[in-house]
Amino acid sequence: MELRIAGVDKIYRGPVTALRGVSMTLHPGVIGLLGPNGAGKSTLMRIIATIAQPTAGAVYWNGVDTKRNPDKLRRVLGYLPQDFGVYPNLNPFEFLTFLAAAKGLDTKKSRRRIEELIDAVNLRGVATRPIGRFSGGMRQRVGIAQALLNDPELLIVDEPTVGLDPEERIRFRSMISELSGERVVILSTHIVSDVETTADEIALIARGCLLAYAPAKALVAEVAGKVWGVVLSDEDLAAIRRNYIIVSTTRRNGGVTARVVADGSPHPSAEQLAPTLEDAYMNRVLSYDGGSP
Ligand SMILES: Nc1ncnc2c1ncn2[C@@H]1O[C@H](COP(=O)(O)OP(=O)(O)O)[C@@H](O)[C@H]1O
Ligand SMILES: [Mg+2]
Repeated sequence: MELRIAGVDKIYRGPVTALRGVSMTLHPGVIGLLGPNGAGKSTLMRIIATIAQPTAGAVYWNGVDTKRNPDKLRRVLGYLPQDFGVYPNLNPFEFLTFLAAAKGLDTKKSRRRIEELIDAVNLRGVATRPIGRFSGGMRQRVGIAQALLNDPELLIVDEPTVGLDPEERIRFRSMISELSGERVVILSTHIVSDVETTADEIALIARGCLLAYAPAKALVAEVAGKVWGVVLSDEDLAAIRRNYIIVSTTRRNGGVTARVVADGSPHPSAEQLAPTLEDAYMNRVLSYDGGSP
């Protein structure tokens, strides 16, 4: 099982360059596609899902060009789009039955599969209630169930944690881990904690460019020994901001506590902190100038 993305560009009318020369090769496991809003995550996912075409470059599923032969990939694809709509009057059972029919799945097999999925995503207790009354988390579980109808080898979920409360978010993360195994799972998010523990590889994307494709550990190692905590006056903060990457600030009685990425100590009172994926992410994204003049 291999998904190869080779030199993909996407230019929308405008023109807006949404992707530039994105290349990476994905194998089974969870890949966290992490980047700020507008980075190009949904565009890349739509291209992989064969819903959109790249302006240049190509995507290969097990060596087959998905533009020439999209069916090879479509047959094994599960996709949860960012703007996933449901039919509010249908219950999960009816909705999944309808989609299975629309996807042309065998009726008898899909009936059994739907029963399994309703249990797998923990919707048994509400399987006969209309989806329109569900919470965000419950709806996302319906979304995941529909993406799993054909037991996909390639599962693409676009910002699945948006609109979830913290508890639902945690539950969703563990569900994704359970679903991995012998499939390629691509999960996009702009929230570092969604992928820092669940993803085998992080694909870091900003302004349409792939900045890194590596395990979270490797990215964190890049900022080891370079993360500092420092309490500053407002003037000092302004000076630090000009010279270093600031990951976050918190205002506390009279001063500002800043989390800073710097090769050496940025201030006499700075103390070294243990690096996190958030530090690595902010450092990579903020020091990337987009190659613009
Ligand atoms: N259909 C479209 N037409 C024109 N521009 C678009 C279209 N879809 C997305 N964009 C632009 O492409 C860039 C990437 O968008 P998107 O892929 O949605 O990013 P993300 O999912 O990371 O937030 C943004 O600048 C966005 O405004
Ligand atoms: Mg998006």
